[in-house]
Amino acid sequence: MELGSILQFLDNKTILVTGATGYLAKIFVEKILRVQPNVKKFYLLLRAADAKSGTERLRDEVIGKDLFRVLREKHGAGLHSFISEKVTPVPGDISHEDLGVKDSSLKDEMWREIDVMLNFAATTNFDER
Ligand SMILES: NC(=O)c1ccc[n+]([C@@H]2O[C@H](COP(=O)([O-])OP(=O)(O)OC[C@H]3O[C@@H](n4cnc5c(N)ncnc54)[C@H](OP(=O)(O)O)[C@@H]3O)[C@@H](O)[C@H]2O)c1
Repeated sequence: MELGSILQFLDNKTILVTGATGYLAKIFVEKILRVQPNVKKFYLLLRAADAKSGTERLRDEVIGKDLFRVLREKHGAGLHSFISEKVTPVPGDISHEDLGVKDSSLKDEMWREIDVMLNFAATTNFDER
């Protein structure tokens, strides 16, 4: 598949990404926001007790990372509003029903809006039981 047709496909699409604090998910999200800024929205599912700690994890463990430096340079002072428009952190857990999303209006919105889902959530410890 050509990059051009992938970018065209992602235009105005809403994407759910699980495991958003993980290695691969971060690389995916940064790349799409950089090369296809016309993506409609990302819902980033991450493990967090509530919306506030979900937002903090998004800031500290995803957007704040050096990986997002090019995007930061591109948008400058506008990065915050770009991210607010394009990225919604979603506290959840894929091992729970409805992905552990407790906010019912957010859940309804997601179920209505999402076009594409990518699951990157996984236990990658090699010494789990
Ligand atoms: N990295 C590679 O080179 C590579 C290559 C081929 C395939 N893969 C596969 O791709 C997947 C992701 O790999 P990765 O390297 O990105 O892993 P990673 O850095 O360990 O990230 C895993 C992510 O999953 C989240 N997670 C774990 N359990 C969860 C749950 N129950 N609900 C919601 N989120 C949960 C973790 O969240 P917390 O931060 O809350 O722990 C973390 O954000 C894995 O299946 C891996 O085997 C990876």
